[in-house]
Amino acid sequence: MNDIFTKYAITDVIHLAAESHVDRSIVSPLDFVYTNVIGTVNLLNTAKEYWKDDLSYEKAHDGSWDTQRDHLFYHVSTDEVYGSLGKEGLFTETTPYYPNSPYSASKAASDHFVRAFGETYHLPIVVSNCSNNYGPNQFPEKLIPLFIHNIINKKALPVYGDGHYSRDWLYVIDHARAIDLIFHEGRKGDTYNIGGFNEWTNIDLVKLLCAQMDEKLGRSNGESEQLITYVKDRPGHDRRYAIDATKLEKELGWSPSVTFEQGLAATINWYLQNTAWLENVTSEFYQQYYNEIYNN
Ligand code: TYD
Repeated sequence: MNDIFTKYAITDVIHLAAESHVDRSIVSPLDFVYTNVIGTVNLLNTAKEYWKDDLSYEKAHDGSWDTQRDHLFYHVSTDEVYGSLGKEGLFTETTPYYPNSPYSASKAASDHFVRAFGETYHLPIVVSNCSNNYGPNQFPEKLIPLFIHNIINKKALPVYGDGHYSRDWLYVIDHARAIDLIFHEGRKGDTYNIGGFNEWTNIDLVKLLCAQMDEKLGRSNGESEQLITYVKDRPGHDRRYAIDATKLEKELGWSPSVTFEQGLAATINWYLQNTAWLENVTSEFYQQYYNEIYNN
């Protein structure tokens, strides 16, 4: 990291690198500590050291930041740090942290370290917590690309538990637009929630996906739905996530650019045009951990 900061004279960091799959974290929690917690602290330390001559260590007495922004350490995080919602309500930027999986606990820890570096060393930081991403290039361990892969190959679609878990889905391009906006215009030291205003239960989403796939693959309507297979529930499965992205909308003027139907259609098209990529990355280790949790 020191070499990279020196070689490229790094002025700002947008830190997205993480182990991100909940199921994988259930099988290998320590990998998540190494990458998400220790990896983030390494990067924070490097930035703090490399930028130390430029950092203003004088935070105003009222706690506000020096508005002169020489550098920024932007940490990209998840709404899963807030835990699970009941039937009502939405996560806001002030919802207390209550992570339930090893993955979300590791992301919560890294968020806390980022904030702590802001407070302790006055490293200029910003954090955003987003809902479930989907779109091209997503690794087929996550629900949407995994199910696209399985539908293409007429394999079972393993729906965990009763399928009435809900998630708020955010198209990756809209997430990238939000990150760009927050990076350039966000308030130093602040947190922003990014969500698609787009909540779906897993089973409704899977049925929509099946219908769109049937149409695109020229299969008869209802054919792919027959692949739906209810399996054992995920341990510690969070019932519901939903984001209130009003702050981002009001303060920075962001809103999603596509509907879920449009984003999903574009995603399916991308996977159908990139089947070689999909087969190449669909590796045996996915099956290994999947079998360990759900087939016992
Ligand atoms: P996932 O894509 O793993 O994202 P996250 O757990 O971070 O929200 O899962 C989305 C939802 O879909 C979640 O409720 C778990 C469920 N799910 C299944 O029912 N079957 C699957 O094979 C996968 C991967 C997920």
